[in-house]
Amino acid sequence: MNIKEREKYIEEFDFPHCDDATKYEKVAKIGQGTFGEVFKAKERKNPKKFVAMKKVLMDNEKEGFPITALREIRILQLLKHENVVNLIEISNAVNRYRSTFYLVFDFCEHDLAGLLSNVNVKFNLGEIKKVMQQLLNGLYYIHSNKILHRDMKAANVLITKNGILKLADFGLARAFSISKNGTANRYTNRVVTLWYRPPELLLGDRNYGPPVDLWGAGCIMAEMWTRSPIMQGNTEQQQLTLISQLCGSITTDVWPGVENLDLFSRMELPRNQKRKVRERLKPYVKDPYACDLLDKLLILDPSKRIDSDSALNHDFFWTDPMPGDLSKMLAQHTQSMFEYTAPPRRAGHMRPHHHQAIQKPSHMDSGYQDRVF
Ligand SMILES: Nc1ncnc2c1ncn2[C@@H]1O[C@H](COP(=O)(O)OP(=O)(O)OP(=O)(O)O)[C@@H](O)[C@H]1O
Ligand SMILES: [Mg+2]
Repeated sequence: MNIKEREKYIEEFDFPHCDDATKYEKVAKIGQGTFGEVFKAKERKNPKKFVAMKKVLMDNEKEGFPITALREIRILQLLKHENVVNLIEISNAVNRYRSTFYLVFDFCEHDLAGLLSNVNVKFNLGEIKKVMQQLLNGLYYIHSNKILHRDMKAANVLITKNGILKLADFGLARAFSISKNGTANRYTNRVVTLWYRPPELLLGDRNYGPPVDLWGAGCIMAEMWTRSPIMQGNTEQQQLTLISQLCGSITTDVWPGVENLDLFSRMELPRNQKRKVRERLKPYVKDPYACDLLDKLLILDPSKRIDSDSALNHDFFWTDPMPGDLSKMLAQHTQSMFEYTAPPRRAGHMRPHHHQAIQKPSHMDSGYQDRVF
């Protein structure tokens, strides 16, 4: 097919299950991920309806629709829950002989990274409980459906102006099964953003499961008080060192079987480190129930790490102040807050392609204080 023929073919092709992207009008760019751009847009027919459009990156046109995007779509179509981002449809924009696809989601006003980087956003204890309860509810649901998220981090947690939390970004998610009759799974361990990556992945485990997401939940929970990621390693080795310094030395005593992981003898594991999770988080966290739950989420041995069901039954969620509605607090902030539109959360840590799409409110430039835990 020559270019002209191809142009005609694509223009006339009726993509099944795809609606025309021109029914939406872009309003602002709100995200730049590894896998493409995300826009806020409104529906032309119903200008009160806002959506988020995530562009599907066509890395290798010859191979057709990218398999990674197909996987994300399949998983999103399966997951329907109040605490999981809702995929409305796939839309298609034809522009000459190029076809661009978008994943269209219900719009959420904020992401947690954006909220935490704004010093004017203050969560009280009941509100923090509500965030964590919804996050664990979402994890409970996806894990019950045999899906691993594999990219837990504050930027992938969305919050609507009504205070409803939605797990987002299923770009790295996959289905899992419990390995049966002795045949171990062989999943890739090159997943999860380094700062939120659990020790089993850093040590080369390929037969992991839901506990990888609960480690991330623990990192995010601590961040609700510290306001910046608690372990910011630059390399996998450094990340393991930071983990050992907080959670204690990685040994066969605390984690029987760890010696069988591929990288156990290849990485440098600090010795004689005491576990200091409670001690180091207490000055920020204060609440003893919160410290106890954090201590159980940040457990080195994944088989001993608390699961979402037990975490939801933890006293933290069932003692005063009880989890409380977030909408009142959020109503004080009329501007959307996203990681992309916030200033970098760490000195010297620049995100690539950081074009300013939405005007930053002035308080963010002056009032933001970088606090590395
Ligand atoms: N439904 C939505 N409503 C509002 N904002 C959204 C929505 N979906 C995504 N975003 C914003 O866009 C950002 C990037 O989206 P997402 O995480 O899905 O893409 P990604 O390309 O996989 O990102 P990365 O690779 O950086 O994790 C999110 O962090 C969030 O700020
Ligand atoms: Mg993301």
